[in-house]
Amino acid sequence: MPTHQSLSGATDDELLQRMVQTHPDRFGAPFWEFFTAEIAPALPPEPVVIDLGCGPGLLLRDFGARLARAALHGYDVTPAMIGYGRQLAFAGKHPTFAIHDVTRDPLPHAAGSVDLVSMSSVLHVVDQPLPVLAEISRVLAPAGLFLLNDWIRQPLSAYLAWRRDVLQESAADVNRRGFSLFPVHNKYTGDDWRWLLAEAGFTIKSETQLRTSHRIMVATRR
Ligand SMILES: C[S@@+](CC[C@H](N)C(=O)[O-])C[C@H]1O[C@@H](n2cnc3c(N)ncnc32)[C@H](O)[C@@H]1O
Repeated sequence: MPTHQSLSGATDDELLQRMVQTHPDRFGAPFWEFFTAEIAPALPPEPVVIDLGCGPGLLLRDFGARLARAALHGYDVTPAMIGYGRQLAFAGKHPTFAIHDVTRDPLPHAAGSVDLVSMSSVLHVVDQPLPVLAEISRVLAPAGLFLLNDWIRQPLSAYLAWRRDVLQESAADVNRRGFSLFPVHNKYTGDDWRWLLAEAGFTIKSETQLRTSHRIMVATRR
């Protein structure tokens, strides 16, 4: 399966650095307000939490700071990402990090045993999302939550302007990266994500859009 890196033309290390640098903006106060209102109250006191395609592990670190008694698990297909996560300091229990291709292998968790699966900017790169969603559904507890945070389609002009104005890319980079990544980042509309979740047997409990580029949906098994 082509990974995000190969699609973007960036090396693993470049993608890692980009994820680290953009993390504070992508997961700033509005995200945590949404998390506190819509997700944290629905979790048990000692939740099992997975970040699937966890990248550098920073979101797991931030979950750990808010869910002191959580058992955290980070999975990613890219060894450099897992290596970065393993050396982070964590407030509570240190997570388990493992190199894992979610399109190839089942998650190492029993059916119905996970309280929160988070997937941030990952599902859009997967060629066949339905088997991945089925695997997430398998591991989720009956009241478990799936937090999907992913790209939604924008007009080409808006997408290129966003890269220029928000990412502060040079005109050369906007042309190079912008055009090659447009089909990757603009694959699904909000309705496409809703359809996919329904098709995979999920019910959306809440959703929001905190940034032009991404939609956040919280879903449970139907
Ligand atoms: C855009 S990055 C997002 C990283 C992280 N979730 C974040 O928001 O900072 C996409 C991540 O998905 C991972 N990924 C892509 N395909 C994957 C797969 N089949 N299984 C597991 N991880 C995958 C990549 O290695 C990369 O770390």
